[in-house]
Amino acid sequence: MLVLGIESTAHTIGVGIASDKPPFVLSNVYRRYVPSSGGIHPRESSRFIAENAYDVLVEALARANLSIKDIDAIAVALGPGLGPCLRIGATLARFLALRYGKPLVPVNHAVAHIEIGMLTSGFRDPLVIYVSGGNTAIIAFLEGKYRVFGETIDISLGNLIDTFAREAGLAPPYIVNGRHVVELCASRGERLLSLPYSVKGQDVSYSGLLTAALNMVRNGERLEDVCLSLIETAYSMIVEVAERGLAHTRKKEVLLTGGVSASPLLESKAKLMAESHEALFHNVPREYAGDNGAMISWTGLLAYKHGVTINPLDARIEQRWRVDEVDIPWRNQAGRSS
Ligand SMILES: Nc1ncnc2c1ncn2[C@@H]1O[C@H](COP(=O)(O)OP(=O)(O)O)[C@@H](O)[C@H]1O
Ligand SMILES: [Mg+2]
Repeated sequence: MLVLGIESTAHTIGVGIASDKPPFVLSNVYRRYVPSSGGIHPRESSRFIAENAYDVLVEALARANLSIKDIDAIAVALGPGLGPCLRIGATLARFLALRYGKPLVPVNHAVAHIEIGMLTSGFRDPLVIYVSGGNTAIIAFLEGKYRVFGETIDISLGNLIDTFAREAGLAPPYIVNGRHVVELCASRGERLLSLPYSVKGQDVSYSGLLTAALNMVRNGERLEDVCLSLIETAYSMIVEVAERGLAHTRKKEVLLTGGVSASPLLESKAKLMAESHEALFHNVPREYAGDNGAMISWTGLLAYKHGVTINPLDARIEQRWRVDEVDIPWRNQAGRSS
C-alpha cells in the first residue's frame, strides 16, 4: 500500500510517500518559506506554497520512482494551521483524488508529528513532548485518542523564541547552520538573569517571559545573557511539566517531536529528565522534526488502513483542529499500532 501525503499548514509545502513495507518512507520532499523580514505572513506563505507545490509533488514521485497512478490514497493535513496555506494543500489533494479516482484521507498535523516519531522510535506508548511554532503540548494516548496532559496557555515555544529573535534584531533568518539564532547567541552567554518562570499546574505560559526578556534587552542587558536566560527558563518549564506528566501517567517512554525538537539543548534536557525516571528517550530525526510531507503520508497510511477517508467534496480545512479531537483507530489501549 502506498499513500501520498501533502503538508501545507504554515510555512512548508511538503509531499511525502509512505509504504506499509520497509523502509516505510519512500520520499520526503519539502520547501520552506522564509520571510525576508518579520514573521510568517499567511498570504506570502500561501503564495510560496502555491508556486512550489507542483515541483515538490513531481519531485516526491520521482524520488520514489513512482507515478501518481501507483498511489493507493491521497492524504492531506487539513489542520491545524493558517487558512490561506491549508487551502492550497487541500485544493491540490482534492484535485488529485478526484482527477485520478483516489480515496482522500484527512490528517491532523499534530497527530502526524506524533506518528512519525512513533515510527522512528518504535515506541508503543510514550509521553510526547510536542514543541513547534504553532503548538506546545504534553500528550499521551488514552482511550482512543491522544490526550493533552499540559500545554501552553498562550504562545508556543517556537513562537516565543522566534518572536524574541525578531524583536531583538537577531532574525530573520531564524535558523543558521541548523541552529536557532537565539541558541547560537545564548552559547556566548555568561550570566543567568532572573526571568518569570510560569508553570501553572500542568500548563506553561510564555508570553510574560517574552515581554520580560525583551524589556531586559531594551534596558541594556547583554543580549547573549538574555538569550541564555530565556532558553534556559523556557526549556526548563516545558521539561518540568513533561516530568510531572511522566510521573502521573507512569509511561516508560518519552518522545520529543515538532520543529523545536531540532534544538540540541532542549533534547539534552528532555533526555536527562527521561533517563532520571528510567524511561527510554527518542528525539525525532531532524528531517522529520520540522513540517514535512512524510509524516502526513505515514499517518494517512495508518488511517487509511483503518478505513478513515473523506468525500473530497466534504474535505474542509480546520484551522483550530485540536489533537484530542481526533479518533485514533489504529492504536489499541497499549498504544500498539495495528
Ligand atoms: N534547530 C532548531 N532549534 C530550535 N527551534 C527550531 C529549530 N529548527 C526549527 N525550530 C523552530 O521550529 C518551529 C517550527 O516548527 P514546525 O513544526 O516546522 O512548524 P509549525 O509550528 O508551523 O508546525 C519554529 O518556531 C522554528 O524556529
Ligand atoms: Mg508543525
